[in-house]
Amino acid sequence: MYDMPQKMKGGFHGIRSKQISLVLVALVCTIILIWGCERTSILSSFILQDDQLSQLSRDILIDDSEPRPVLPKDSSQVNDGVESELDKKNNPEEHEQRNHQDTGKIPVDNKDTSGKALTAVEEGIIATGDEMSSDGKTEEAQPQTSEEGNPVDVDQNPENTNPTTDLESTLSNQIFNKSVWTRNEKQVCNYGKGKWVKDESRPLYSGFKCKRWLSAMWACRLTQRTDFAYEKLRWQPKDCDMYDFQGENFLARMRHKTLTFVGDSLGRQQFQSMMCMITGGEDRPEVQDIGKQFGLVKARGSIRPDGWAFWFPSTNTTVLYYWSASLCDLTPIDPSNPKTEVSMHLDRPPAFLQRFLHRIDVLVLNTGHHWNRGKLNANRWVMYVGGRPNTNRRIADIAGAKNFTIHSIVHWVDSQLPKYPGLKAFLRTISPRHFFNGDWNTGGSCDNTTPVSVGKEVMRDESSDSSASRAVWGTRVKLLDITAISQLRDEGHISRYSIKATPGVQDCLHWCLPGVPDTWNELLFAQIL
Ligand SMILES: *[C@@H]1O[C@H](CO)[C@@H](O)[C@H](O)[C@H]1NC(C)=O
Ligand SMILES: *[C@@H]1O[C@H](CO)[C@@H](O)[C@H](O)[C@H]1NC(C)=O
Ligand SMILES: *[C@@H]1O[C@H](CO)[C@@H](O)[C@H](O)[C@H]1NC(C)=O
Repeated sequence: MYDMPQKMKGGFHGIRSKQISLVLVALVCTIILIWGCERTSILSSFILQDDQLSQLSRDILIDDSEPRPVLPKDSSQVNDGVESELDKKNNPEEHEQRNHQDTGKIPVDNKDTSGKALTAVEEGIIATGDEMSSDGKTEEAQPQTSEEGNPVDVDQNPENTNPTTDLESTLSNQIFNKSVWTRNEKQVCNYGKGKWVKDESRPLYSGFKCKRWLSAMWACRLTQRTDFAYEKLRWQPKDCDMYDFQGENFLARMRHKTLTFVGDSLGRQQFQSMMCMITGGEDRPEVQDIGKQFGLVKARGSIRPDGWAFWFPSTNTTVLYYWSASLCDLTPIDPSNPKTEVSMHLDRPPAFLQRFLHRIDVLVLNTGHHWNRGKLNANRWVMYVGGRPNTNRRIADIAGAKNFTIHSIVHWVDSQLPKYPGLKAFLRTISPRHFFNGDWNTGGSCDNTTPVSVGKEVMRDESSDSSASRAVWGTRVKLLDITAISQLRDEGHISRYSIKATPGVQDCLHWCLPGVPDTWNELLFAQIL
């Protein structure tokens, strides 16, 4: 939008001089009677000129100093205040209690700190005996008696009786205009192409705060780490502009809607990042834990539930994460035996998705770091295809199995889209690891503290995650391509500062928060506007 005036001015000017030259050339052409030939050359000179112009405006666009558009704030925060005030008045005790319960249900507490090793294990960083219990939990904790439906009682929400405000309609107008604009620019707009720029206004929330949603193990501000330059970067796509992320705008866009992340712990990082971004890292007592509605309760003997779901009453928005490291359906072969092998149905979506897809409006899938022989053996996962143990050699190979599964889940989601036309589905590409001088278990490290020291730009058009990008090809599932941009950010990992005993073992897989996954969410938001 910002480059429009530039383009138009140049365009009018260009047309006027072109008209003159058109007349001249036409004269010449009439004389020598080779009209068609000349016409072609005029056309191509026009195209060249237009190209140069848009190149120029693009250069202006990506100037770091260019002030970026900001969506107007909507009134949701005001409503929030009204609501909690009303709540207090109507039933102060209940309000107190709810706050208390909410705090009691935080996904991140002591158990999570000790869960550090577990999550690292999940991703193949640290191998300990805990591994099996951690992953075993995933399978046995399939929702059994969860109360589906029963949407949270939102009828008392004063928000519902409020007429839509002018500010809000302005916002939706702008969003509509913006989406029209983006659609026109889509051919040239690739969010994965661009550069990291310094931005003193970052991060989007404080790493000291956001205690309710951010696991302590990923909050690098709470560790011994003293360098925080990695927090002060923003991704600037080359051919498209991006709005600054603002929680209120996100909520306004997601009114009455549910955003769901399904994937491994890197998906969980993106979920926590999103919660912190929406709330600005502040505790929001009115936000409710509604995990139970989705069967996300801690099963007996497990360390934590299979996911979390939070509900923002001001806009009736739900943000959810479901743990599925493989993005396929896992069923115990002998349910009565706790040591049973687990069939890993490569061609079936996780049961959770089959069950709840109809309640999801924006879906973000990811997988990748569990696809190795060690993980499969440790989890006693046995590959199944078509309901039987796999016999296809091409699939039996781990890379083949992963590729096959990614294609299966994407095609399944795509096949569901006609039924849920409002659903926007994304496959997030793989999050890169940065172990230098060894792997996670052989002393690999990521000690660099200087941002983008390997380069700040991504120039290539195609994704570096070819398996993911080929899987979505020809489907309506979109790619959330974060691989190449994150590849440039080796300084942004937890590194050696994790809260764990094992000396010498670094976490060069997970990211510090606030940090790189915040950018993934900005790119996601830009693509659902
Ligand atoms: C675009 O925004 C303007 C206000 O800036 C509004 O009047 C107009 O209706 C919007 N256009 C569309 C197509 O919504
Ligand atoms: C809240 O959103 C859900 C969809 O996520 C919808 O079914 C429900 O009707 C909404 N509640 C209200 C009061 O609008
Ligand atoms: C990935 O899986 C798809 C679908 O099964 C297949 O067509 C493609 O050839 C596979 N690619 C690789 C690299 O194995």
